[in-house]
Amino acid sequence: MLSDRLPPHIEPNAVSRALAALAARRVEIADLTESNPTRVGLVYPPDLLAPLAEAAGLRYDPCPLGLLSARTAVAADQRRRGADVDPAHVVLTASTSEAYSWLFKLLCNPGDAVLVPQPSYPLFEHLTALEGIRAHPYALEYHGLWSIDVASMAGAPPNTRALLLVTPNNPTGSYVTPAALAEITDLCRRRSWALVVDEVFADYPLEAADPPTDIAARAGVLAFSLAGLSKSVGLPQLKLGWIIAGGPPAVRDAALQGLELVADTFLSVGTPVQLAAPRLLAEGAAVRAAIHERVRRNLSLLRAAAGRNPACDLLRTEGGWSAVIRVPSTRREEQLVIDLLEQERILVHPGYFFDFAREAYVVVSLLPAPHVFGDAVDRLLRFVSR
Ligand SMILES: Cc1ncc(COP(=O)(O)O)c(C=O)c1O
Repeated sequence: MLSDRLPPHIEPNAVSRALAALAARRVEIADLTESNPTRVGLVYPPDLLAPLAEAAGLRYDPCPLGLLSARTAVAADQRRRGADVDPAHVVLTASTSEAYSWLFKLLCNPGDAVLVPQPSYPLFEHLTALEGIRAHPYALEYHGLWSIDVASMAGAPPNTRALLLVTPNNPTGSYVTPAALAEITDLCRRRSWALVVDEVFADYPLEAADPPTDIAARAGVLAFSLAGLSKSVGLPQLKLGWIIAGGPPAVRDAALQGLELVADTFLSVGTPVQLAAPRLLAEGAAVRAAIHERVRRNLSLLRAAAGRNPACDLLRTEGGWSAVIRVPSTRREEQLVIDLLEQERILVHPGYFFDFAREAYVVVSLLPAPHVFGDAVDRLLRFVSR
């Protein structure tokens, strides 16, 4: 009765079952998978959401691509990183996830493929399947630094329509290098692929010197940069994301026309958040700074803990909100995660959740409160080193 777009198995996995059993007994755990910035004890300016109550929001005047005032604010915000964006090239969405779904509707026919990084954001599997398209992986490899295996893209199926780039990537924290970006752009030009660049974590560099950002605005091929309030100012609940379209003017403008039709079909972005966008982007800078400080602090706690546990290898984290630790491969990752949960009351993501090519890796969020994080990573690294 249900479509093939849904995964065949949607029952909870063994980790979720172990977690549910602990929750039923009200056992407290240190959750190192927490990626929701509103749940980690950050202090938000108390009147940050006041602009949502503007009386102008009582009037509904739908604009498919978004209110010009909000698109202008998003364009102006890109100047923080030196990008010159025309508000006419900004498309508002309810989230970055929705931006993906709109771009897949714009670019792909059912059955077409898009290239996705591996390891990367696990939601790509569902975002593609729900649009009736296929995700074809290309590899990221670690040799003291993550690099994109551009050669692995050569085997892309003939019906590939777009290449997805996540920079910095989740969870590897790696940015695309200028050299890899030039190669990728050239491949997109030769193969007529659109370039879709997820830059949701671009505001959080950690160990990166001047990485490429705002890629669509500077691209020589049809390209789209994606981001949103959820990461840039730590407000995922407001549901405002955006696409910035770039590339040769004729193809970019045709894409914007297509996106306008998709957007007009759903009109999913609420008016109050659009009216509030200029102030949210300006005043949210304080939240962004607090998140940045948090992830920096936790990364230094993690580095110190890794220094005390040489059997574990903390991989280089150039940016973003997560860190990857290679751990001794003494048991399957799933068992390791369950043992950690049941014996130490610590929850981490296993590497396989992000499709790492090999075991054993664990991924931790750098967002939790430092007193929770510092103690938990110490215990985590000692436990896996035993
Ligand atoms: C790489 C990446 N892209 C997109 C998203 C989704 O962002 P949004 O909340 O705007 O849908 C996430 C969320 O964690 C992410 O990690």
